[in-house]
Amino acid sequence: MSKEFETKILCIGAGYVGGPTMAVIAEKCPNIRVCVVDINKTRIDAWNSDNLPIYEPGLDEVVKIARGRNLFFSTEIDKEITVADIIFVSVNTPTKEYGIGAGKASDLQYWEKTARAIAAASNANKIIVEKSTLPVRTAEAMERVLNSNEKGLHFEVLSNPEFLAEGTAIDDLHNPDRVLIGSMETESGIAARDKLVGVYANWVKREKIITSNVWSAELSKLVANAFLAQRISSINAVSQLCEKTFADVQEISKAIGADTRIGAKFLNSSVGFGGSCFKKDVLNLVYIAESNGLSEVAEYWEWVVKMNEHQQNRFVKNIIRALFNTIAGKKIAMFGFAFKKDTGDTRETPALHVAQQLAQEQAKITISDPKAIDNAKIDLAGINGISYEIDPYKAAQDAHAIAILTEWDLYKTLDYAKIYKSMVKPAMIFDGRNILDHQKLYKIGFNVYRIGKTPLLHSETALI
Ligand code: UDX
Ligand code: ADP
Repeated sequence: MSKEFETKILCIGAGYVGGPTMAVIAEKCPNIRVCVVDINKTRIDAWNSDNLPIYEPGLDEVVKIARGRNLFFSTEIDKEITVADIIFVSVNTPTKEYGIGAGKASDLQYWEKTARAIAAASNANKIIVEKSTLPVRTAEAMERVLNSNEKGLHFEVLSNPEFLAEGTAIDDLHNPDRVLIGSMETESGIAARDKLVGVYANWVKREKIITSNVWSAELSKLVANAFLAQRISSINAVSQLCEKTFADVQEISKAIGADTRIGAKFLNSSVGFGGSCFKKDVLNLVYIAESNGLSEVAEYWEWVVKMNEHQQNRFVKNIIRALFNTIAGKKIAMFGFAFKKDTGDTRETPALHVAQQLAQEQAKITISDPKAIDNAKIDLAGINGISYEIDPYKAAQDAHAIAILTEWDLYKTLDYAKIYKSMVKPAMIFDGRNILDHQKLYKIGFNVYRIGKTPLLHSETALI
């Protein structure tokens, strides 16, 4: 291994967070050797190929610049631990599915296994950086596991939560709103923190690098996601009111978002939020509140998730009702399966809940998505009545209804007159993302159901 690099960074976990984050660090810091390891060999092989394991706009270009220069992907975990100065831990922390805290707490087994592997393979002091979202005080627990080694080594644990969003990960990493680094307030904690500040300072302005104590950093990540999810649940709650009162949720979002105290972002009413973080992090916050005897706080945040589930269920009920209260044997085309546009990720996607519920009602579902069909097939394996078709025109042929589940730009520009002609009449469209030109669709002949707006119905063909 070459000795010319000033610092050696290792990242354990080559997923949606670890892969892109390390690619950008390597791109921006040519003097630092960056290696990403994973137990999953298939994933590492994909990172070393022309077919990266995740789809993210701009990622291919960044990897091309740095891979083989100062960015490496490997399965040799112990060897890489030994040579690293700074180790980021970016393994998965799913919601615990068993025992105490089941359904809410984080499952820390992958994290703890990683901490033990680090302690076993190290023979020098190291800085350990939490990148995965973790419950508050995990850093402290991990510091104990690491520093109980019998080699007299010292591990300084920092919390550096990642705020990137999928689909815009590379932009978010290049131009972050802020970088947050939490450390112990000891001399060695502050020295470790400054070393990590130095890495980010290669491309992020110093005033955007915020430092805090380690517990604030850990909690900030959960709170940031809880606030974002809360905004969506709040506007989705309002959307239900709009549908009863002839108000228009998009007009409301615009009006309230113009208030700089509220701000315009994250006010798009939809079929509900998905993704690997929001539900998990809100429930984690709920669990922490419950564990600390704060039942009202826990209940307050739990409603963010409950409202999201209600919004998804409501979407399905509306489809069934509009299709004359029976969808058995009827073809429904689902446009989009990813949890948001510009990603193939389907974790916690509302489309999964919608597809499962429609399938239970014995609908024939055809799923179309430009990037997520492979994941959809895995998620829906074993469920009857589901087919897959990348071409949305073919997916809609002979369908009774189209349901828009993901806001892919391509769905805005389809020839809906052509699609209408190929469908069973009365043809319905359920825009779960409010992205289409509803008046135009109505003029073509569709009955148009929207989120948070009165439906546009041809009265002779609709249940009013
Ligand atoms: C989120 C956070 O934004 C990011 O900071 C954190 O690091 C990880 O979790 P991500 O889940 O990748 O990122 O995507 P995000 O853009 O936040 O969208 C989450 C979900 O909310 C998607 O299903 C999206 O469609 C939905 N959403 C978002 C809405 O329904 N309405 C909105 O106004 C915004
Ligand atoms: P995230 O969205 O947080 O990045 P992912 O599930 O995409 O989560 O990625 C986490 C990665 O961590 C997976 O590729 C998984 O194989 C890897 N991983 C889990 N446990 C370990 C471990 N003990 N050592 C190395 N890699 C691990």
